[in-house]
Amino acid sequence: MKNVIDGKKIVLGVCGGIAAYKAVELLRGLKKMGAQVRVVMTENASWFISPLTFQALSGLPVSTGLFRENDETCFKHIDWAQEADLVVIAPATADMIGKLANGIADDALSTFMLAVTSVKMVCPSMNSHMYENRVVQRNLDTLESDGYVVLEPGAGELACGTTGPGRLPDPPLILDRIVCHLTRKDFLGKNVLVTAGPTQEPMDPVRFISNPSSGKMGYAIARAAEHRGADVTLVAGPTNLADPVNVKMIKVRTADQMASQVFSCMQQADIIIKSAAVSDYRPKKKSLHKLKKKDGDLTVEFERTQDILKTLGEKKKHQILVGFAAETRELRQNAEKKLSEKDLDLIVGNLVGDPGSGFGSESNKVTIFCRDGSCERLPSMQKSEVAHALLDRIKMLTDHKIEKTGG
Ligand SMILES: Cc1cc2nc3c(=O)[nH]c(=O)nc-3n(C[C@H](O)[C@H](O)[C@H](O)COP(=O)(O)O)c2cc1C
Repeated sequence: MKNVIDGKKIVLGVCGGIAAYKAVELLRGLKKMGAQVRVVMTENASWFISPLTFQALSGLPVSTGLFRENDETCFKHIDWAQEADLVVIAPATADMIGKLANGIADDALSTFMLAVTSVKMVCPSMNSHMYENRVVQRNLDTLESDGYVVLEPGAGELACGTTGPGRLPDPPLILDRIVCHLTRKDFLGKNVLVTAGPTQEPMDPVRFISNPSSGKMGYAIARAAEHRGADVTLVAGPTNLADPVNVKMIKVRTADQMASQVFSCMQQADIIIKSAAVSDYRPKKKSLHKLKKKDGDLTVEFERTQDILKTLGEKKKHQILVGFAAETRELRQNAEKKLSEKDLDLIVGNLVGDPGSGFGSESNKVTIFCRDGSCERLPSMQKSEVAHALLDRIKMLTDHKIEKTGG
């Protein structure tokens, strides 16, 4: 699936709130993903940020008012409203939320909004007491029941000095929700279980055996499945990544913990994608106290951890099971051996060390091997694109299963 924002017409509404400067980052993110972005601002927003900044970054005229002589934007708001694939207001002030909930159209943005027929997303941002005020909450409820998508603000210390809810969600999070709303929902009703990241097998309280998996591939799969409408559970080893939105997170450390969480979630799952780099061995003894340095070498004895993928293959009933194989040589032989030994439906193989591939990088170069002996070699792609390509393959398998069972 190509980047869903590419070529889309998006209108960014900006109101007079302290977070107006963050709309610049959102605009740049949208442009970077290939959207054509038009900006409609309230007059009060221009106290916080100049229309010229948005004009320079969007490359298009910015609408700031309804009644301006010789300003074509005054007459274009209806056209823009009809053309837009999605409209996002970030930040949305308490004032604008009140106007939209009551059909007031007394400035460029509120007038424009009444004419929009596509997805309308509102990102409230204000002082916590303002946000929690019953009038504002009532207006937000009205917007939701009128079909607006309302993003919940973040909580924490706000620019006004108070602490609580009201912070504009970070632009990458707003972008993620925009992508979600533009993505087709072909995994609706599917329960997807994903594993990601490394495991850590402790030797003593300060040392452990692990591997350099960043978790990026598994997190990208969880995010892509959520965008496509699935109910997603992500069992993750230690990573530095932000939790994906709307995904049930289960955080673990060791292979043992990962195994017990995966086995307890597998019954509800329709699809299980095991991208975690689980440790095959763990130190046989774990010292209660820090091992002290001594003269001479240290020998550590290792024991096998449970083979989670193999056990899933033995236990699975209706589930589609997908594994990953990171190999340093003979990718095809190794991947196909794992596919049949562990009774998988698909395996995603990659050669560690290949340029544009593997641990920690933003991209991955993989081959997807299927049970029928076919395989699909993908070029180096962003991990989000690899995730969608894998989900496309899985979708073909689930559709085929439904056809066969007549379900
Ligand atoms: C310094 C300053 C910061 C403000 N920050 C916010 C804010 O974050 N959220 C909000 O709802 N209103 C905020 N206001 C109040 C709005 O600017 C005010 O309600 C204004 O009428 C909103 O106009 P608009 O909705 O047409 O943009 C702020 C006002 C000032 C002076």
